[in-house]
Amino acid sequence: MKRILFAITLSIASACLAAETVPLTSLDLANLHFEGWSKPKVDKAFSGKPLSIAGQKFQSGIGTRALSTLWLELDGRAQKFLASVGVDDGAPNEAASAFFTIIGDGKKLWTSGAMKRGEAAKVVDLSLKGIRSLLLKVDHVGESNTFNHADWAEPRFVVAGAKPRTVNAPAEKKVILTPKPPRAPHINGPKVYGCRPGHPFIYRIPTTGERPIRFTADGLPASLRLDAETGIITGTAPARGEFTVTFHAKNRHGSATRTLKIVSGDTLALTPPMGWNHWYAHYNRVTDVMMREAADVMVRTGMADVGYSYVNIDDCWMNATPDAKRTPDPLRVGPFRDAAGNILPNKYFPDMRAMTDYIHARGLKAGIYTSPGPLTCAGYCGAYQHEEQDARLFAEWGFDFLKYDWCSYSHIAEGKDPKAKNIYLWGKTAPSLQALQHPYRLMGSILQRLPRDIVFNLCQYGMGDVWEWGAEIGGHCWRTAGDLGAELNRIFAVALKNAEYRQWSKPGAWNDPDYIQIGFIGDARTSGAPKPCPLTPTEQYSFMSLWSLMAAPLFYSGDMSQLDPFTLNVLCNPEVIEVNQDPLGDSAAVVKLTDDTFLMVKRMEDGSKAVGLCNRGETKETVTAKWSDIGITGKKTVRDLWRQRDLGKFDGQFTATVPRHGVVLVRVR
Ligand code: GLA
Repeated sequence: MKRILFAITLSIASACLAAETVPLTSLDLANLHFEGWSKPKVDKAFSGKPLSIAGQKFQSGIGTRALSTLWLELDGRAQKFLASVGVDDGAPNEAASAFFTIIGDGKKLWTSGAMKRGEAAKVVDLSLKGIRSLLLKVDHVGESNTFNHADWAEPRFVVAGAKPRTVNAPAEKKVILTPKPPRAPHINGPKVYGCRPGHPFIYRIPTTGERPIRFTADGLPASLRLDAETGIITGTAPARGEFTVTFHAKNRHGSATRTLKIVSGDTLALTPPMGWNHWYAHYNRVTDVMMREAADVMVRTGMADVGYSYVNIDDCWMNATPDAKRTPDPLRVGPFRDAAGNILPNKYFPDMRAMTDYIHARGLKAGIYTSPGPLTCAGYCGAYQHEEQDARLFAEWGFDFLKYDWCSYSHIAEGKDPKAKNIYLWGKTAPSLQALQHPYRLMGSILQRLPRDIVFNLCQYGMGDVWEWGAEIGGHCWRTAGDLGAELNRIFAVALKNAEYRQWSKPGAWNDPDYIQIGFIGDARTSGAPKPCPLTPTEQYSFMSLWSLMAAPLFYSGDMSQLDPFTLNVLCNPEVIEVNQDPLGDSAAVVKLTDDTFLMVKRMEDGSKAVGLCNRGETKETVTAKWSDIGITGKKTVRDLWRQRDLGKFDGQFTATVPRHGVVLVRVR
């Protein structure tokens, strides 16, 4: 009798518990992972308006934006997840779309498919029987943009046991894959190098191995000299022609040899430029001291030994107008130009020439930044109506790279008064192609006439399909999209999008998907001091693998003073960098396998293929590269580039297990 009573009580109790509904919005949402600008909202759409999907209004829910993820821990006794999902009516663009996925214990339990704005909400009524780990994810369809507002409307759990708990994304250990460079010398760097006849020449032979190393060179043009101790070549670029130089490097452990083809002609950046840019580390806090330190660190840490050479300053080296909100630092406020119209650096840059001398003394190159508009994006003095004068001064100061950032030029392109207030705010109407090209064509022709090699980086976020005309107007690389700063979770989407422009990538002409942001980086939303980047170790490897496969300019943009062994291992693997620097200049083609997995295939000059087996999904996947997909036949050696290890001979295909958000990078010979 007692037992029966107990059983009845128990079943009544569990029936009561089964009835407990736990709204998702009642849980701690601090773990809702979202890296874009602004923030997801509770009980409101992302826009701040009421939640609304195809006219249907909802009182409660989460208004977020693709891409966002929320991980939850369940006790195995949760019964159901219920919600209505869709693109919010307040999404500011009719192309807005989203893709909702629910993953339980590593398996896809539910997907909405691609949804558009105006499409009726889809109802989720999902059994969670036995599930312990749950992921709610909103992805974009194709490459993201800022307008993919997505609603989890009335999201709730029905639980028999404990309430679900939101948790961080699965943690990963930082595993160093790149083997330590051998103590004997190994010469790295590009196989081909462009310069213009008669211009100042500087090249540091990137070489790993224990110092001291003694360098010699055969076939060096007479106008160049090599410093045997530092491996730095200086002098004047030879007359037009091709010069095959053989470098030798020797230390007490052994010796190495490598050839470099110097092409003295019209084209610079015959391989993607590599270096460091201050922006994502220091924003408007940059100083001359930081630039010098970056040059020192580049040499001291071995970055220069694997090919990094540009030390580039971004915005905020000039003066700004007094504006307490944008420029709180009075030392960056002052007159824009002197009486002769020469642009004035701010107080943190006492002597530009001394700074570039310092960088050049280490065999490195220096880069500078300005805007064709009256003001830069951060509100500092731009080059408008001083283009030639500024470019000449940059050359006199000794700069080797110019980033030219559209910013306030919108207002010029639209015919607005350049002296108007708020000139740095974005324009409202799309300029014509001619107007888009005009400032870049102008600066391109000025740079071509200067007696100095200056790599020209077009920064106008991909407007007017810049990849189609960037090279023609004198550019060597061009940003293909907006800032990747606060949108690091987009690296796979950016790579897929960038691959669409791969036909325009070639020596001297590179698609630039923005900087490598790993290690310690600043916060793009607050311009805050550098802190560990939000990417997992796997994602950091993926960043470098994807950028190498795309033949993207390789600019690290984290804090050089906080480079740790893990970050250096990601940045400095010579076999990975060789993929990026291959002289053919091919940018990888994408072979799409599933929603989550794809291959990136890059043709290399020696006939081999660099292949990325990519998984942008949330669970590990088995990915197969069939020889027919990568355009080869027969038995091939497959080499793991991160571990620098041959994996064996494979016939017909190669299969790997690729972790969540991972890329397995191999070379197939
Ligand atoms: C724009 C560019 C960035 C950076 C900033 C500087 O946003 O896209 O790369 O140069 O301006 O203000």
